[in-house]
Amino acid sequence: MADGRHMWRVFDNLMNNICKYSVPGTRVYLTLERDRNMAQFLFKNTSKEILDISEEELMERFVRGDSSRNTEGNGLGLSIAKSLAQLQKGWLRIETDGDLFKAILRFPIVEEEPQTAAQMQEMTAADGNAPEVIG
Ligand SMILES: Nc1ncnc2c1ncn2[C@@H]1O[C@H](COP(=O)(O)OP(=O)(O)OP(=O)(O)O)[C@@H](O)[C@H]1O
Ligand SMILES: [Mg+2]
Repeated sequence: MADGRHMWRVFDNLMNNICKYSVPGTRVYLTLERDRNMAQFLFKNTSKEILDISEEELMERFVRGDSSRNTEGNGLGLSIAKSLAQLQKGWLRIETDGDLFKAILRFPIVEEEPQTAAQMQEMTAADGNAPEVIG
């Protein structure tokens, strides 16, 4: 379950970072997988710089990589994305390995309750096409 505006902001922050900090012309990998009751988005890109700052620090407010200094930014994008993920009962984690940058975003999957006959009738009643409910 997610809030569309929050989710949009999380993706916007992560995708903007990818555009700003990837080696130009290199591939970016995005995957969406299900792991039991969690949906996992994985973003992978090759960073222009080798990040020698810990993953936890990169997520902190106002922390930016060294070579990011000549681009615009406040070091807020990742920490905002993390807070918005948590607000939706999910989480965001960063993993770096040399110039490989990974952002892992996870959300719990909420299965939709099957609708009762009465609910279905209510939904279709508005257009005058309500199905007949038997039993
Ligand atoms: N996809 C990425 N690839 C490589 N480095 C990244 C990536 N995303 C973030 N970084 C590094 O992490 C730092 C922190 O990112 P964050 O989004 O929090 O701040 P910012 O992009 O510098 O500024 P803002 O998001 O406020 O404009 C960046 O300065 C950059 O060094
Ligand atoms: Mg950013």
